[in-house]
Amino acid sequence: MNSLFDNHQLGHIELPNRVVMAPMSRVRATTDGLATPAMATYYAQRATAGLIVSEGAQPSLIGQSNPSTPGLHTDEQAESWRQVTAAIHANGGRVFAQIMHGGRVSHPETHGLQPAGPSAVPAVGDVFTPSGRQPAPIPRAMTTAEVPEHARSYADAARRGIAAGFDGVELHGANGYLIQQFLSDNANLRTDRYGGSVANRIRFAVEAVAHTVEAVGAARTGIRLSPGATFWGVQENDVPALYTALVKELAAFDLAYLHLEVTTDEATLAALRAIWPGTLIINPGAGLGPVQAGPADADHWLRKGADLISFGRAFIANPDLVERLRIGLPLATADEATYFEGGNHGYLTYPAYQHQAA
Ligand SMILES: Cc1cc2nc3c(=O)[nH]c(=O)nc-3n(C[C@H](O)[C@H](O)[C@H](O)COP(=O)(O)O)c2cc1C
Repeated sequence: MNSLFDNHQLGHIELPNRVVMAPMSRVRATTDGLATPAMATYYAQRATAGLIVSEGAQPSLIGQSNPSTPGLHTDEQAESWRQVTAAIHANGGRVFAQIMHGGRVSHPETHGLQPAGPSAVPAVGDVFTPSGRQPAPIPRAMTTAEVPEHARSYADAARRGIAAGFDGVELHGANGYLIQQFLSDNANLRTDRYGGSVANRIRFAVEAVAHTVEAVGAARTGIRLSPGATFWGVQENDVPALYTALVKELAAFDLAYLHLEVTTDEATLAALRAIWPGTLIINPGAGLGPVQAGPADADHWLRKGADLISFGRAFIANPDLVERLRIGLPLATADEATYFEGGNHGYLTYPAYQHQAA
């Protein structure tokens, strides 16, 4: 079995350990989607991760899901990321940019546009807006002619991200955002080539990946999926068939990695492992509810064939998570109240482990 502390070759880069910082939106960018010096410090504090996956960055204005998230659709936004990638690299780390199109999970108050999704079906729940949480609006159904533009937006963002110093990109195909809305059979009611059959529902994901691979290369492209997850009301009634078809198509690209959340049963995930020839990242915490994933979860999934393990919440409160796992130090718990607010408090203020004399 692999250890969390073995090296791993990921595309063109060698990771010194198998601990991945999972993507986490912390909504501390400027209102026009620029990365900030505080973001550079936050990520640089966590650069001992084998790989950092950034918070979701929108590939277009309409793709922005939450206020104060960073973008990768203007030159100014791309330029602003340079301080982040440079700080991570200066501290010896590696970073992929997560590209996240929110689709229907957004609000006109956030970007001035009516959100667009596969169909005119609203997300379930209240979305974040600049004036607080509000019911998810009814999105506009994308026209057939428009869908490819959204697929290409991931590639355009990827190009900008690589130019800004990212080592690669991760397409956000999980958690009920646009790619999973297309995969879903209750958010996607389309009757064109992007809806209906499994082959049609996976088409948007595959096209987004194909464009991105063409733009930045397969070795710099990963994708995150959450099979069966019901975030924001998406449903997938045929999870094994849907994801088997999708992962088989994706396998042909020789991507840097597939990042799976534990949002379905182990048998389904094991079957996906069996048909995925490349690097597999598993995010155990997605299946644990309020419990923060720890070393036992990592060992479990390494035994089940994962190559890398991603941790989200544990990285918020433990910037030195790799070292704590390596020597078995206790893990601090993150304060939920500062996940999405608090400025530098709860963002830059978690210390590395400090020994307390007994
Ligand atoms: C504050 C916060 C923000 C998150 N933002 C994102 C995001 O931008 N993209 C994404 O794919 N997942 C996001 N997630 C989900 C995490 O990547 C991860 O799947 C989840 O927290 C479960 O893993 P954990 O127990 O290790 O934290 C977020 C989670 C948290 C707690």
